[in-house]
Amino acid sequence: MTGPGLAGRTLLEADELSSIVRRFGEQISADHPEGIVLLGILKGSVCLVADLAREISVPCAVDFLALSAYGAGGARIRLSKDLEADVAGRAVVVAVDIVDSGLTVSYVRRLLHERGARSTDVCALLDRRPRRLLPVELRYVGLEIGDEYVVGYGLDLEERFRNLPMLVVLDTGARQASETELDDAWIASVNGPPDH
Ligand code: IMP
Ligand code: MG
Repeated sequence: MTGPGLAGRTLLEADELSSIVRRFGEQISADHPEGIVLLGILKGSVCLVADLAREISVPCAVDFLALSAYGAGGARIRLSKDLEADVAGRAVVVAVDIVDSGLTVSYVRRLLHERGARSTDVCALLDRRPRRLLPVELRYVGLEIGDEYVVGYGLDLEERFRNLPMLVVLDTGARQASETELDDAWIASVNGPPDH
């Protein structure tokens, strides 16, 4: 059940994502020898957290929180699932799929600060600065992108495409020859068992 004309081009292949996440892990481990709480923001960061946790060589607790947008145009944010860890006095690394307006990350940093976290560093796979509404400091960034919509590796379009192993830029306009039709057959060919 694919919408008509949904096409895309690969932004980062799985092996390129692995390199970025390995670099994140090395940097975070070097910066925090005493260990961290790795905090994922659901659901977009699940792939990042799962892979990043395995690249971190210092003590690493893993936790998650979920937020939901409400109000006119989704301009306000509330906590829909709280984290479980007591972050007081601890170094927290917030893992996020993409920083867009900056509202999500600003909300989470304020929350962690109120709860007494010793430090709150943001690790963002993607940074889309052209749409930033609130300034946010990002300590670890995978890739800066322009004003384009990305799916895969945890990022969704209405709950689809989170399960793609790579990042894909969607193009809802006229399909280019270099683009792939993002239909179910293509997803199956990417994620299914190899043909024999
Ligand atoms: P922000 O609060 O505007 O920075 O929103 C960030 C959140 O919006 C991300 O954590 C994503 O879940 C979602 N989001 C923003 N841009 C994209 C995109 O291009 N693809 C998928 N999700 C996105
Ligand atoms: Mg989403």
